Amino acid sequence: MTDFSTITACGECCTGCAKKIEGSCPGCIVADANVIEHLTKLRDECLSSHRKSKILVLAGSPRKEGNTEKLVEAFVKGAAGNHAVEVISVTDHKVNPCVGCNSCFTREGHECFQKDDMDEIYAKLKEADVLIVASPVYFYGISAQLKAVIDRLHTPMRNEFRVKKLGLILVGAAQLPELFDSILTQYDLILNFFHLAEAGKVLVRGAREKGDVTEEDLEKAFLLGQSIN
Ligand SMILES: Cc1cc2nc3c(=O)[nH]c(=O)nc-3n(C[C@H](O)[C@H](O)[C@H](O)COP(=O)(O)O)c2cc1C
Ligand code: SF4
Repeated sequence: MTDFSTITACGECCTGCAKKIEGSCPGCIVADANVIEHLTKLRDECLSSHRKSKILVLAGSPRKEGNTEKLVEAFVKGAAGNHAVEVISVTDHKVNPCVGCNSCFTREGHECFQKDDMDEIYAKLKEADVLIVASPVYFYGISAQLKAVIDRLHTPMRNEFRVKKLGLILVGAAQLPELFDSILTQYDLILNFFHLAEAGKVLVRGAREKGDVTEEDLEKAFLLGQSIN
C-alpha cells in the first residue's frame, strides 16, 4: 500500500507538474494509478491556489498616449505578473448610449436591442473577476464614451457577471481638492449597490497635457496593479 503522505508534488509545481504527471518527470511516479490520482489532486489544489483573476480594464480616454493610457499601462505592468489582464479602450468601440427602453428586461437572454460593439464588451465582462474603470475627468464626470458603456449595463444580463471587485483610475488637470468628489460619490454608490469589493483607486490631479502624469503617479498605478488579489 502506497504511503501517500510521503509523496509531494514535484518542485516545479504548479504548472510544471500538470505536464509532468502525464509523462517523464523523474520526480513523479507514473506507474501506479493511485499515485497519479493523488498527484493529480495535489496539482489541482496547487493550480487553484495560484489561480489568476481575470482583470478587465475599461479605459475611457479618446486621447491616444494620454494620461489615462499611461496610468493604465502602468497598472497592467503591475497586475500582469499575477493575473490575466485585458484592456478595452472604449473609445475604439462604437457603443451607443442606452435609450432606457427596458426591452432588455423581457428579451430572451436579456440582450440589448442595439447591436453594436457593446456585444464584445458584454462578453468580456461575463468572464472578468475584477473590473477597473479608468477615465479622464470631463467636467467632474467620466468621459461620455465610458458613461455610455456603463449605462448599457442597465440590462439584467449584468446579473450573470462574476465581477467581484471594482477599481478606479482617474486623472484631471485641476489641483482642486474636490476634483473627484462627484465621481467618487457615484463610485461608492455603485460598489454598495452591486455588493462589490473595492480593488483600490489612483486619483491624479494636475495633469493636463499628454505626459503630465509623473513617475510617482505611474508608480501608484503600478502598485495598484500589483496589489490586486
Ligand atoms: C471635455 C473636457 C472636459 C474636461 N473637464 C475637466 C474638469 O472638469 N476638470 C479637470 O481637472 N480637467 C478637465 N479636463 C482635462 C482632462 O481631465 C485632462 O487633460 C486629462 O489629463 C486628460 O486625460 P487623457 O490624457 O487621458 O485624455 C477636461 C478635458 C476635456 C477634453
Ligand atoms: S440596455 Fe436595455 S434599456 Fe438600454 S437601450 Fe439596451 S435594451 Fe434598452
